[in-house]
Amino acid sequence: MSTDNTNQLVELSYVSKATQNMGLSSLVHLFDVAQKWNQAHELTGVLFYENGHFAQILEGRREDVLFIWAKIQTDYRHTVLHQIELDEIDQKLFPHWALRFYGGDQIAKDVPHLAGVLDGLPDHDVELLRIMRSVAKGK
Ligand SMILES: Cc1cc2nc3c(=O)[nH]c(=O)nc-3n(C[C@H](O)[C@H](O)[C@H](O)COP(=O)(O)O)c2cc1C
Repeated sequence: MSTDNTNQLVELSYVSKATQNMGLSSLVHLFDVAQKWNQAHELTGVLFYENGHFAQILEGRREDVLFIWAKIQTDYRHTVLHQIELDEIDQKLFPHWALRFYGGDQIAKDVPHLAGVLDGLPDHDVELLRIMRSVAKGK
């Protein structure tokens, strides 16, 4: 068993605002690059896009999560509004999803209440995180 800090599993979540209109091809391109990198580094998580806002949960080894987080924060396609949390975890919530994308119809169908809290208001963080995590159980 490793007690190395860089190998500790962590969960990171944040909310951001798109700096441009993300059409389908822009989203597909973003998702494609992200999903491949995550897969290669055993990162997993979910990415939501609604009302011009993104919210994401990323989980994996601390070193990998922090590396990609540094890139994500400087990505021109959005402005990170704030980090919701960065917590050590014992096991992953989304072990099989290199990156699962939710937008438009999928949000309306699976997590309709997300739309009302995906606005970057810190007051909505607890509810936003609860709804994001809930897709892991299909609830
Ligand atoms: C909302 C959002 C979420 C992203 N999530 C990831 C991700 O989970 N994994 C990833 O590798 N890149 C992600 N990216 C893309 C990175 O910011 C970056 O474009 C990518 O790592 C390629 O960087 P490079 O061109 O410097 O190699 C995301 C970008 C945005 C705008």
